[in-house]
This record gives sequence, structure tokens and C-alpha cells, in this order.
Amino acid sequence: MPVYSVSHVENVRVCVVMVGLPARGKSLIAQKIVRYLSWLSIKSKCFNVGNYRRELAKDVDASHEFFSPTNAVGTQYRRQAVEAAIEAMMHWFNDEHGVVGVLDATNSTRARRDEILQLCRTNSIEPMFLESWCDDENLILHNIIDVKTTSPDYQGQSADFATSDFLKRIKHYESTYEPLDRDHDRQLTFVKLVNVNSQIMLNRIESYLESRIVYYVMNLHIRPRTIYLSRHGESEYNLTGQIGGDANLSERGWKYAKKLPELVLKSLGEDAPHTNLTVWTSTLKRTQQTASFLPYKKKLSWKALDELDAGDCDGMTYEEIEQKFPEDFKARDDNKYEYRYRGGESYRDIVIRLEPIIMELERQENILIITHQAVLRCLYAYFMNIPQEESPWMSIPLHTLIKLEPRAYSTLVSRLKADIPAVSTYKEKGTSQLGEAEGAKSVKSRDIINESPCS
Ligand code: F6P
Repeated sequence: MPVYSVSHVENVRVCVVMVGLPARGKSLIAQKIVRYLSWLSIKSKCFNVGNYRRELAKDVDASHEFFSPTNAVGTQYRRQAVEAAIEAMMHWFNDEHGVVGVLDATNSTRARRDEILQLCRTNSIEPMFLESWCDDENLILHNIIDVKTTSPDYQGQSADFATSDFLKRIKHYESTYEPLDRDHDRQLTFVKLVNVNSQIMLNRIESYLESRIVYYVMNLHIRPRTIYLSRHGESEYNLTGQIGGDANLSERGWKYAKKLPELVLKSLGEDAPHTNLTVWTSTLKRTQQTASFLPYKKKLSWKALDELDAGDCDGMTYEEIEQKFPEDFKARDDNKYEYRYRGGESYRDIVIRLEPIIMELERQENILIITHQAVLRCLYAYFMNIPQEESPWMSIPLHTLIKLEPRAYSTLVSRLKADIPAVSTYKEKGTSQLGEAEGAKSVKSRDIINESPCS
């Protein structure tokens, strides 16, 4: 069964209710779940109660006293914020056909959780509680650093103030916190993560959709790491404008392959001597040839990383396709994500076959993936949360190394150009000619933080 249609088949709606003290990585987990499910075309949204609280109480001092259980004003604002978030979520479920809503808050008392439980039941939504429980001081510290550098609550404050205030805020929550308990909460559907995923407790996971979410969170880690993405070097087919096939690298493609180790070392900088990269390629010759000069021992080739299967059009140029199959040519331009080549694949099909790759990627540390234009677009869309209708039109040029550094609330991107010329394999909408027109409306520059040539 294709993953993306699960919600239609089961007709299940799930509310993931985050549980846990501040600085337990809840928001990170919540956002990742939403990004992952959206990538799989499951309509998902995160409702962050903190954002509602900041909006409602924007003129009120949000230092730790606000969060004290004995502060009547703070308690009232916080109550209003959670009600507003729940109301927005219910509206989204019922009027916008939402499938997985994530309620991102501490939800740290049983009374609060009971209210949410009842509301979900009344609306035929499955509540799934997801607790991040943590007593590992290093992990907590790591999260505090993330929060104090990214949270709007501490904007413009000194790091020392933010840390000490945040620790006091945590203490307020500790005084009323009731963790999920395997006996007391045995009737509930819940997942309890202990110190990220050192230990995981599962209770009454019933639907397929819930089990997919569980499997995903089980694979997450928060260790810092770098992900490199590159297309193979220019191939002989790229020179002739043919798609698909299993061609060798062109002369310039081989130059890129030889330059790639240097490009990676330069990007790693002072971390280079102690960074061990795992290298993944597809099973096609052009990616393996591109990886052949890399000094790293762990190299793995995956069929799932092979290029989009163009079926009957394999080996043709876009011009030939336009002449031989004009209707298909137009249909693909009209809806590139969904269009499936005769006897081949669509972008949606690639996403489905990439799902195990994403799971494994979440488990990995530093990694370099050498793959193909369409596959790279799909992987990139996952990390950068690019909508489906945009992802097949993204510009991913040859001979360019993309560096992704996932952070708590975003992913940093930089592109390093190898300074080795290559043809463009980019086809704009409405033409069979290759190349990007000046000022074209591709999404090429939306994420480029640092584009630096490496000569
Ligand atoms: O042209 C290179 C290539 O990797 C082809 O093998 C593949 O069919 C194509 O890119 C995918 O790009 P698009 O979806 O833009 O046609």
C-alpha cells in the first residue's frame, strides 16, 4: 500500500499531543514529524502553544515568574493560549481536512491531558501522546542552548540571563509535572522517549499511521552532523541531452570526480581530520565513478537512489519526447510531481521509494550522497520543507556540492561550486530546450546562504 494514501484508506485522524518539561526537544520532534508526513503527502500541521501565548500576552513580561503556578495572570494567559491553539487545530481538522495535528506544548498535567483526550474523542480524532522524558544533563543543556539562541522569548537578552531564567522556568513546571505512567495511563495511546531514544515505551499503538510516526521518531537523533548532497559529474548522456540510461562520465565529469575529495575537505575545514564520512551512491555507473576518488572506506550503493525511471522515454532527449509524445510532454509540464512516464515513474513514486533512505539518513551521522537530479530534488525537499509543486522545478546544477547542517529549528544550506564547467540539464516549463533563462522563475535562489567557488 503506498504510504501517502494511508489516511484515505484508514480514514484516521491523529492528534499527536506532545508531553514534557521545557528543553526536552519537543518542538524539534514536533516539527520533524510534520515535515516528514507532509513530504509523504499526509496533511499535517504543528500548533505551537508558545506562539499563541506570545501573541496573546505580547505586552506582558515573559520571564520565569510568568510561568509560576501561583501567578494568576500568567496562568490565565497560558490557559487562553492552549485553548486558542486547540480551537485552531480543531478548525483545521474539521474544515481543512487535516490528518495529523501536532499540539506542541508541555501538556504536563493529567488534568490538561484529560481535557484534550475528551475533546479528541468527541471529534473522532485519535489522540497519541508523545512524551520526551529526559534526565541526561548534557542533553538538557544542549536543548537549553538551542532554546536560548532561537526562542523569541529571549530575543535581545544576554546568554547568561536566558540560561538562568530558563532554568527557573523549568523548575516551575517541575513542581506540577506528571509524566506518563505505564500503569496509570495504560488506557492511552502513548510513546515515551527516554533520553531521546535510549529507551522507548510504547502503549496501545493501534493504527498504521500511528505506527509510522512511532517508527520515525524511533530513528531520530540530535547529534550534530553534516549531510552533503551532490549530483554525479557530467555524463556522456548529459552532453547529448538524453535522459535516463547508464552512461559513463564525460571528460569534465571525471574532472569533477577528481576534485570532489578536495571540495569536501575544504568544506569540512578544521573538522576534516576527524570526520568520517559515509558515502552513498546509486547503482548507476555515473554516481559510482563520481565517488571513486573519495578516500572514505564506508561506501554503499542503493537502488533506491537510482534516477527517475523515464520508462518508454529512457534514452530520449526532451525534444524527441515532445515530438513523439506531445500530450505526455504537456501533461508532465502541467503537473510534474504527479506525472508518471509511460512504463516509468513520477516524482511521487520516487518519494515513496526514498522513504527507507530517509529513515536510514535520520539514523546516520556525517554522510555524502551522490545521486541524480530528480532524486536529489526529492531529498532536498525533505530537508528544506519544499512544497511538492515546487520541488521538481528546483535548480540543482551539476558540479556543485550542497552542504546541509540540520539545526533545532532549521537547516543551514551552502552550495560549493567546483568551478568545472558542465552543461545545464535544466528544462524550463513549456519548452524542450535545456538551460535556465536569465531571471527564470525556478526556485534556485531561495535557500542559497553561501555560494562559493572552489578553485
Ligand atoms: O537530464 C538528467 C536527468 O537526470 C535525467 O536522467 C532525468 O530524467 C532528468 O534529469 C530528471 O529531471 P526532470 O524531472 O527535470 O526531467
